[in-house]
Amino acid sequence: MISTFIFFHSFLFLYILSTPSSCSSFLSGIETGDLEKRGDLFPQILRDEAVARLVELGKVSDANDYLERTFLSPATTRAINLIRKWMEDAGLRTWVDQMGNVHGRVEGANANAEALLVGSHMDTVVDAGKFDGALGIVSAISALKVMHVNGKLQNLTRPVEVIAFCDEEGVRFQTTFLGSGALAGILPATTLEIPDKRNVTVKDVLKENSIEAAEEMFLQLKYDPKSVWGYVELHIEQGPVLEQVGFPLGVVKGIAGQTRLKVTVRGSQGHAGTVPMSMRQDPMVAAAEQIVLMESLCKHPEEYLSYDGRCSGSSIKSLSSSLVCTVGEISTWPSASNVIPGQVTYTVDIRAIDDLGREAVIYDLSNRIYQICDKRSVSCVIEHKHDAGAVICDPELSSQLKSAAYSALKRMEGDIQDEVPTLMSGAGHDAMAMSHLTKVGMLFVRCRGGISHSPQEDVLDDDVWAAGLATLSFLENL
Ligand code: GLV
Ligand code: MN
Ligand code: MN
Repeated sequence: MISTFIFFHSFLFLYILSTPSSCSSFLSGIETGDLEKRGDLFPQILRDEAVARLVELGKVSDANDYLERTFLSPATTRAINLIRKWMEDAGLRTWVDQMGNVHGRVEGANANAEALLVGSHMDTVVDAGKFDGALGIVSAISALKVMHVNGKLQNLTRPVEVIAFCDEEGVRFQTTFLGSGALAGILPATTLEIPDKRNVTVKDVLKENSIEAAEEMFLQLKYDPKSVWGYVELHIEQGPVLEQVGFPLGVVKGIAGQTRLKVTVRGSQGHAGTVPMSMRQDPMVAAAEQIVLMESLCKHPEEYLSYDGRCSGSSIKSLSSSLVCTVGEISTWPSASNVIPGQVTYTVDIRAIDDLGREAVIYDLSNRIYQICDKRSVSCVIEHKHDAGAVICDPELSSQLKSAAYSALKRMEGDIQDEVPTLMSGAGHDAMAMSHLTKVGMLFVRCRGGISHSPQEDVLDDDVWAAGLATLSFLENL
């Protein structure tokens, strides 16, 4: 396996593929008073209202003290109603599909033309920030609202459909893209039987929401590729690059592939005070050893993955520049301080821009996990919960998005010397699932400190404005 993967991986994973020549703090804290007087920049809709909506949506949570919205939870139902209301306010025809995705569509001047789909996700991680997913939905609606209030929706050269996807984070069922995957036609019917931690299945949740789900539902949800022109997603960067180069917007060149595993380690449950150390079969220490091994493998894959000498090993080295591995969730049974656990379960999230490299890591890691279990006389089961290959964004769409970003920034700033940066995404996006249906393109928006999946997530109001204006420019030049 390794020898094959070496040949495919000759490029270096560079986060910044092209960056502006200067590091000016572009649009951060500029005097916006003069800009606001200009009628063509629509700050009331694209900045003030968009920011207020992000704040409002950020309060729609299933928890009292932090933001959490998972697949079709009560808070998600409230979010659906809110987003639908905003779509209607932008002059869009709306509906909610059988998976709980919210759609808002306008036909424009050519109802029979292939549609542009624009969107992002409305679900969140646990203790989330308010921009991840929401920014893409709100910016698209705001840009269309500007066209609506200016009587220009009918000038759109093709139908435009905004979609707020129901599940991108995969928090509840571990499998991600329940919404975009259904529309792209990549979900198997067995998806309905996936259980959450309380053994409630996707089908049960749909039923609780008055949706009788059956296999045929997936056929109905799948979009006909011939009816779709492309998919565009705007998203916060969730990393530090744009802030570092001092630019509010960037074009995404590609998205890293990802795999999620669930590892269950079973040992011999016993009394913490009586079982001698030499007689234990403790799944907790086995899991601990496996997790530390995983960190080491993912930091230095070149020290673990063997190769056959035909290549220099630079391919494996290049893998390490994008490879990231995380254990984000761990649970033990029965979870008491005076009990040697009987079972430990943990998740592994592995990502790399290089699919064969990621597969090689999973293969090697799995073998080593089993070896540790053997050595410690405990049993291991490794389940694959999610797999998504890396995606390269469509070059033509990317270049249109680059022009839109450039023209938006130029409209705000007057003149720009620098090129809009191009970067890779380590985070997963609905665009990955949508790439199975149509060409995809993405724009990133700078976020403070590169922080995401945290309540500290933040985006400057003026960057929200730039994002809306770039979306508007893109739509105007479709
Ligand atoms: C989604 O945010 C992911 O990359 O996990
Ligand atoms: Mn996220
Ligand atoms: Mn996201």
